[in-house]
Amino acid sequence: MFGYDLSGKVAVVTGGAKGLGNEYVEVLALQGCDVAVIDIEKELVKEESARISKMTGKKVKGYYGDVGEEKDVVDVIKQIIKDFGRIDILVNNAGILLYGPKEEGNDPYMDYPVETWDRVMKTNITGPWLVTREAVKQDMNKHGGKVVNIASVGGIRSTKAGCPSYHASKAGVIMLTASQAAELAPYGILVNAMSPGSIRNGTMGSRSANASNELGWRSNGCPLKRRGSYGEMSCALLMLVSDENSYVNGQNIVVDGGWTIQM
Ligand SMILES: NC(=O)c1ccc[n+]([C@@H]2O[C@H](COP(=O)([O-])OP(=O)(O)OC[C@H]3O[C@@H](n4cnc5c(N)ncnc54)[C@H](O)[C@@H]3O)[C@@H](O)[C@H]2O)c1
Repeated sequence: MFGYDLSGKVAVVTGGAKGLGNEYVEVLALQGCDVAVIDIEKELVKEESARISKMTGKKVKGYYGDVGEEKDVVDVIKQIIKDFGRIDILVNNAGILLYGPKEEGNDPYMDYPVETWDRVMKTNITGPWLVTREAVKQDMNKHGGKVVNIASVGGIRSTKAGCPSYHASKAGVIMLTASQAAELAPYGILVNAMSPGSIRNGTMGSRSANASNELGWRSNGCPLKRRGSYGEMSCALLMLVSDENSYVNGQNIVVDGGWTIQM
């Protein structure tokens, strides 16, 4: 297990009902945090929070909330502060990847629907901005803390996979992080991004071409010749949110086995 001790801290994780977010909730609780989990999966977020609470002995509670909807976010953050007393760590993990139509006669790029574009933008970029705004305004400005925004290698490298909104939104998350780091430093809040490469078992990772093949096109270009694991993401997360990190700020930590650094 990791050496970082997060006892006594309260973390909020968005999109923690399943996938990588669920792993972050588990690891943060194992390291001593109480965790509030926000997700649109109403039942699953409660079930998973109860499971992790039982496993770790920590207070872990699930809340319904759409990170792109202002009223949901304002209300859920208010309720979390009421229930937990404070917020020390915020992980903006909720994100979606929606491809353009692939049916006969449709072009995934040229026929990409505006509704799909707007949904991705609301979740992936409005979400981290809005949840951070409320967490800071309602509590974190009083005592500081850590914010981690989950971006993607899709925010620094493009594909022609028919998901322009994903690339644009994740690039936006990286610059949002820089902006938040500058704006929030006076309050003692450090903000960083993490960009996963292709992560084994992640829902998005498993949707990618050749996902079941360890040497598929994503891992082929990776110097380590394999996909990443949940634990390898958590390792970077714990470093960023721990008290030991007092000077890494405004950065995008790319966890991709070196995939994006070679030509
Ligand atoms: N898995 C990978 O390989 C990979 C690679 C790069 C980036 N990422 C990023 O990591 C994050 C998690 O990815 P994952 O593969 O675990 O995804 P996932 O689809 O397994 O889980 C996403 C979670 O977010 C929730 N969610 C979706 N929209 C929401 C909204 N509007 N409000 C609140 N919750 C919402 C979902 O219900 C789900 O529980 C995403 O931001 C994704 O872009 C993942």
